[in-house]
Amino acid sequence: FKVCPPWPLPYKTGEYPEEYPWDPIPEFPEGFAWGLGTAAYQIEGAYNEGGRGASIWDTFTGANTVGMPGAVCKKAPCPVNSVIAVKGATGNVANNHYHMYKNDVRAMKSMGLKWYRFSVAWPRIVPTGTFADGVNQEGVQFYHNLIDELIAAGVTPIITMYHWDLPQGLMHLDFETPNEPCNGGKEGWYECTMGADGKPKPNGLSSNIVKEFTNFAEFLLKEYGSKVKLWATFNEAYTFTYLASGYGKAPSAQPYMDMAIWPYVAGHNVILAHLSAVMKFREFQKSGVLSAEHKIFITNNQDWREPFSDSKQDIAAALYQVETQLGWFCDPIYGVDGVFDYPYSMTSTFPYMPSFTEEEKELLKQNRPDFFGLNHYGTSFIKVVEGKSVVVHGDLVQGKSSWLFRAAWGYRKLLNWIKNRYGQELEIWGTEAGWSDGAHTSLESKEDSGRLTYYYTYILEMHNAIYKDGVNMKGFMAWSLMDNFEWEMGYSERFGCLFVDLHFGEDPNAPTTESPIYNAYSGKLDG
Ligand code: NOJ
Repeated sequence: FKVCPPWPLPYKTGEYPEEYPWDPIPEFPEGFAWGLGTAAYQIEGAYNEGGRGASIWDTFTGANTVGMPGAVCKKAPCPVNSVIAVKGATGNVANNHYHMYKNDVRAMKSMGLKWYRFSVAWPRIVPTGTFADGVNQEGVQFYHNLIDELIAAGVTPIITMYHWDLPQGLMHLDFETPNEPCNGGKEGWYECTMGADGKPKPNGLSSNIVKEFTNFAEFLLKEYGSKVKLWATFNEAYTFTYLASGYGKAPSAQPYMDMAIWPYVAGHNVILAHLSAVMKFREFQKSGVLSAEHKIFITNNQDWREPFSDSKQDIAAALYQVETQLGWFCDPIYGVDGVFDYPYSMTSTFPYMPSFTEEEKELLKQNRPDFFGLNHYGTSFIKVVEGKSVVVHGDLVQGKSSWLFRAAWGYRKLLNWIKNRYGQELEIWGTEAGWSDGAHTSLESKEDSGRLTYYYTYILEMHNAIYKDGVNMKGFMAWSLMDNFEWEMGYSERFGCLFVDLHFGEDPNAPTTESPIYNAYSGKLDG
């Protein structure tokens, strides 16, 4: 197969800086956007309040959703089916942001925060996911209140439309008898039609999931567009399509655990849903509903894969991984040398890749996003042993998360890879980067040196990328505003720049001692 390494990249294989000087951080370009991020399911709580419908994450964590719109199981007793790694942890209460948002915004203000990236919970706005079933005004009002509060505090909001909490009503799930694939409609991101060759095919731009996402996006833009200028369609397409389906460990994947094909069906639907939302956005810009100042993008994610040696095999294997993760979504969306399609390394070696029609490719080209949203955390080395790629970590320092190894130089390399592949003129916004710590650390004993080293060194390398390599980077949103529900790891990993006391008070909905208490930091921050 052919892998095209987008050279040059800084730092030769094996020659990485071990130490960084603890000098003051150099100046960044004027107007550079510094911010923090969160996602709805990870912080909001109030899962069954204010008219919110059930989401696939309620189901996945085993929350009892009886009676909620779009619930899987409408009649008790319902299966308690928490399949996340940290059993019993849920987002039922989480940081109780739904009720404490004013407090959280006050905290942001006291930190001097200027930009804030958050997501809206689709089932809070469209409880069943099907727009024709109706919109929940209480949910709509909640985000108005939040946005107004942010703006009044001098914080610019950035909205992610989808950060993984699909309304359960868009995905029929049956724990007893898993769905047959391609059964005609409500299959979430896995919607398909069985082809004559026995392979599932996505239903294209007219599929139910693409239409419902577009309805949702259209509603959001009309409702909040006068207050919010920056919009992302999706967060980490790779994570909720590939990691979910591949390991059968995320909610959208439960009926579909065969790794070979489902991620690509889901990924294809996501790319088309993104495209359709961008088309709506451009239409609104033309008709004056939105202005030229409104910008739309998508956030994709990649940790850096460094060749273990400078042998051709190691280089090809490492870059192949970047191309088949980041390139999978970004080649069709941003185009490589004018071609808007999946990478050749995928279409030529993956037997299950769906394909875009010529018309879709043309639409992708005409609807390129305004900038590149990048989530990046760590680095690992790729080494080819007996023809297989093996992941090694060398002496890189590890965070609390199993996959997080700190190497700021890897961030700089990745930024260069993106610049070289998608063009220097494309603005890059760092939409996430961050460091995790253990849950049991108490505030008193905490120096937070792991996180400080992480941000300090990553910011220095970002500065190098901008000033030495000409990377067109315009913003950086650290993850996260505060410790929160870290998906299948529950509350066991702390990504917060604000510490949350996990042991103060009790959460009646979570049979674990690791549920946070919402107001732990209230009153402690001012000054
Ligand atoms: C990426 C995700 O977008 C976010 O939700 C998650 O908490 C962080 N990475 C850390 O794993």
